[in-house]
Amino acid sequence: MNILIKNAALISMDGKDEPVKNVNVAIEKDKIKYIGDVPKDFYAEKVIDARENLIMPGLVNGHTHVAMSLFRNYADDLPLMDWLKTRIWPVEEKLTEDDVYWGSMLGVVELIRSGVTCFSDMYFFMEETAKAVEESGIRAVLARGLVGSDDDDGGSRFKETRELYRNWHNGAGGRIKVMAGPHAPYTCSPGYLKKVIELAKELNVGIHIHLSESADEVEESLKNYGKSPVRHVYDLGLFDVPTVAAHCVHVSDEDIDILAENMVSVVNNPTSNLKLASGFAPVEKMIRRGVNVALGTDGPASNNNLNMFEEMNLAAIVNKSINRDATSIPAITAVKMATVNGARALGLEKEIGSIEIGKKADLIIIDIHKPHFYPRHNIISSLAYSAQASDVKTVIVDGEIVMEDYEIKTVDTERIMFEAERAAKSLIGR
Ligand code: NI
Repeated sequence: MNILIKNAALISMDGKDEPVKNVNVAIEKDKIKYIGDVPKDFYAEKVIDARENLIMPGLVNGHTHVAMSLFRNYADDLPLMDWLKTRIWPVEEKLTEDDVYWGSMLGVVELIRSGVTCFSDMYFFMEETAKAVEESGIRAVLARGLVGSDDDDGGSRFKETRELYRNWHNGAGGRIKVMAGPHAPYTCSPGYLKKVIELAKELNVGIHIHLSESADEVEESLKNYGKSPVRHVYDLGLFDVPTVAAHCVHVSDEDIDILAENMVSVVNNPTSNLKLASGFAPVEKMIRRGVNVALGTDGPASNNNLNMFEEMNLAAIVNKSINRDATSIPAITAVKMATVNGARALGLEKEIGSIEIGKKADLIIIDIHKPHFYPRHNIISSLAYSAQASDVKTVIVDGEIVMEDYEIKTVDTERIMFEAERAAKSLIGR
């Protein structure tokens, strides 16, 4: 659709950090055609007057498991391993395709409403998540979660990854990409991980993995392999493939050097790390050493929402306190983590992450005519420290309006909440 957005304040994230006032943005089909001067003969099927509004790139949620929204508030206040082993894994055993579809839909509408235009997900029954992506209009990078031991030949999980790739890579009008998703070094044996690396190379896709999330994981890795999880997967050749590593909470200086040298992108998930008492990722140090650090929510069962504004806020304020340095992770860095850095982590930096002519039209319009945005001293600061997810008014993905004036246009939100509630209750009772 051709869309003309008029009179907005613009934060482009194209390297210029200053917002531009009173600007017009023209979208032709799926791409940004003009910024600023729009020719008078530009034909727009839709004109949006964005006075008192702010346009910025859609947020990128670099690590999540959206279908886990079915487990939101089901099991809280437990340590990671207890939480997984006693509460989450037993119910996950009983999940059906229908459950994952409605759980994904619930997550996706929450993401859209909070300004996320692209998310990176690792779970199972991923074809159902792909359907939710296709129907809702959001963009996503999907990985079938893989766990296995040395004597495991990959079997059905590898088959599902290949099918997901065949059926959905570049699917939904190009909005879906597929990655290989080894869950973690503690759930994938070395031999199995090597097979996953071969699979990723065969499909020519990236890898999405949980890495160095807890102190226990590092301790176990040192005991089993005599090296840190980062060193361990590096030695196995994992970083030969473009890798997105979620967490990296417990990483040594040597680990950080390995991540930087191998251009591994790290996804920081501050809420999840705080809630599961995993610790504090050395975000400042990783960025200073050249690691691309993006932001994610992790699954909605360990958060318990998919609110990237909250993650931006926490990334900015938690690191200040940890480093005892109020200049650590300034507002602009937090916003970069949620936009351009997320795009780079997913290998999509040429297409999304900033508002530039020729890039995909993935952008959000935020209503800044609200008390918590006044006085308007610094718009970038307001995004990290004052904005709420509920300020997101309109969401455009791939040049299509998926939410307008707070209303999702593509799918029926009421029905999704009803079906997700039904699926969750039925699952727990199974
Ligand atoms: Ni996770």
